[in-house]
Amino acid sequence: MQAKPTSHDTIIEHLNGSSNGHAHANDHASAAVNGATGEAQAARAGVNGHARMAPSGHAEPQGEGSAATALAEQVRRKLEERTATIGVLGLGYVGVPLIMAFAAQNFKTIGFDPNARLVEGLQSGQSHIEDIPSQDVAQARQGDRFRATSDFSLLAECDVAIICVPTPLNTTRDPDLAYVESASESVAKYLHAGQIVVLESTTYPGTTNEVVRPILERGGLRAGQDFFLAFSPERIDPGNVDFPVHKVPKVVGGHDALSSELAMLLYSTVVLQPVAVSSTQAAELTKLLENIFRCVNIALVNEMTMLCDRMGIDIWEVIDAAATKPYGFTKFLPGPGLGGHCIPIDPFYLSWKAREFGFQTSFIELAGEVNSAMPRFVIDKIMRALNDESRAMRGAKIGLLGMSYKANVGDVRESPSLRVAELLHELGAELEFFDPHVASAQLFHGTPRAFKIEGGSLEDVLACDCVVLLTNHRAYNYEQIAQQAAVIIDTRNAFKSIQNPRARIIKL
Ligand SMILES: NC(=O)c1ccc[n+]([C@@H]2O[C@H](COP(=O)([O-])OP(=O)(O)OC[C@H]3O[C@@H](n4cnc5c(N)ncnc54)[C@H](O)[C@@H]3O)[C@@H](O)[C@H]2O)c1
Repeated sequence: MQAKPTSHDTIIEHLNGSSNGHAHANDHASAAVNGATGEAQAARAGVNGHARMAPSGHAEPQGEGSAATALAEQVRRKLEERTATIGVLGLGYVGVPLIMAFAAQNFKTIGFDPNARLVEGLQSGQSHIEDIPSQDVAQARQGDRFRATSDFSLLAECDVAIICVPTPLNTTRDPDLAYVESASESVAKYLHAGQIVVLESTTYPGTTNEVVRPILERGGLRAGQDFFLAFSPERIDPGNVDFPVHKVPKVVGGHDALSSELAMLLYSTVVLQPVAVSSTQAAELTKLLENIFRCVNIALVNEMTMLCDRMGIDIWEVIDAAATKPYGFTKFLPGPGLGGHCIPIDPFYLSWKAREFGFQTSFIELAGEVNSAMPRFVIDKIMRALNDESRAMRGAKIGLLGMSYKANVGDVRESPSLRVAELLHELGAELEFFDPHVASAQLFHGTPRAFKIEGGSLEDVLACDCVVLLTNHRAYNYEQIAQQAAVIIDTRNAFKSIQNPRARIIKL
């Protein structure tokens, strides 16, 4: 079956220099596998049934003889012809954009999620992910290219199963792989010969091989022999319109050479640049390195910010000046603390795993310490601002602008705004908040004293004794805020270009 061209097709065809995107997408995948491993022809030779060499770092291919290569050939053809059915487990921030990308390439897709409300919404063409317009979901539904379900038996129809479920920390801040395990159990139940299984959830090196593979192999089928297994980390940046799924290079690590080649081919249908690494472990650690890099560098600027506060130097000016260096410096910005599902959590997956090797990840621990001190630093700034007005924190009205962890999204997971609000509540302040993306928020979530606060109006926030800008949403009118508020603590340097504000603006 020939895929109907879409704008996304056009991009991929352009990259491949041909209007026949299928054959070239495959060439692209193979070339990337070979390029990364230096084993020219190795992966292709495996598929063609000739002698196969494992790229360095791969588990030795178990698919001896023609059985595995014949299975690989079948699924490869289905991917090339877009007749493969793609299953995605976990329809959240990662799963929905990914499955929509496959649907846009004319694959038949099935999304699996135990959350019935979410499934119902998607089935009726409603998107719960801000970056994905409902129109895209509705179009995929009308074209019969997408369905959402909580019926995991439909995994039996899928040629590909991609796992995009949460990987949180438990109460003792150790990795909680319960979602990965339960999703793997679901896949295992309906696993069949030739199926490609990919884990995308961020996790420590070894998860795919040590946790997922044994669950999948319980029924007797073997990775690299009867089915194909890979890890490919998601790099999605919610709210960042400049980098939709297809524009972000995607790292792929297969359990063996055949798995690697097939996973590369799979992703070459939806991203412009799949990047092969030699093993699932290398792919798992790549994602962690990226996030730890951010976490550590943010901690560095946060620590510099606290020092600059004492020294009376404007950190924002210093960062802007340093960023004029055309090499050797990457700009990171301070803020009220780390937030989101990734940066505050993922590094601790690695420090946990490192302990198994008797190794302490000092940078990660230190960065965690510095970053988690930032909400208290913000509180200190608010207290000093109130002190200047001879006011106590207890009974003061504090207006918070922004409850989500980053600009232009409604995601409040691990948001530092919540921590700031909790600390203010403990000190007896009266809280108002306004966030165009967040209607209400839970404070002290998961504890006996949990309670909900409802968002108010911008006017109510601006009438407070002190306004704290925590999330720099595009939707705010900074000029208006600066002219209406009395005192503003600006944790994002969002008011830097406002001339002659009425408010006293105090930067972080
Ligand atoms: N959100 C991001 O920006 C981002 C970016 C890169 C990587 N990641 C990683 O991707 C993974 C998923 O994150 P997310 O933000 O999409 O999470 P999410 O909470 O938005 O979505 C996860 C979905 O998985 C569903 N789920 C739970 N158990 C399931 C099961 N057994 N089978 C099927 N579905 C199940 C949940 O109901 C939920 O809808 C995490 O490991 C995360 O660290 C997230």
